[in-house]
Amino acid sequence: MSWIDIGHIDDIPLHGARVVKTPGGCVGLFRTGPQQVFAASDRCPHKGGPLSEGIVHGHSVTCPLHNWVFDLNTGQALGADEGRIETYPLRVEAGRLLIDGTAIGKRSAA
Ligand code: FES
Repeated sequence: MSWIDIGHIDDIPLHGARVVKTPGGCVGLFRTGPQQVFAASDRCPHKGGPLSEGIVHGHSVTCPLHNWVFDLNTGQALGADEGRIETYPLRVEAGRLLIDGTAIGKRSAA
């Protein structure tokens, strides 16, 4: 793994989300707790909704377009819907957000 610093945890509102540009493309960051952030695709597999504009609750995000819900641990759609978003390893160290550049790079190569 090669960890890339992509910002500070306080750049993301609690229970909010934002998109950051990484060397491998844009990634959604979802802050589920004071010290917890998940990194995942910003694009809903249903019809491309911007997940970073959705509602963050528990360890999940609800798409703003048609309310599909995704588990940010696994990327799986919950409930009756079927689909999956990519998730990426992310660490919080002294408030800095470090994302696995290797995982991001694989996505852009796919
Ligand atoms: S585009 Fe996300 S639920 Fe339809």
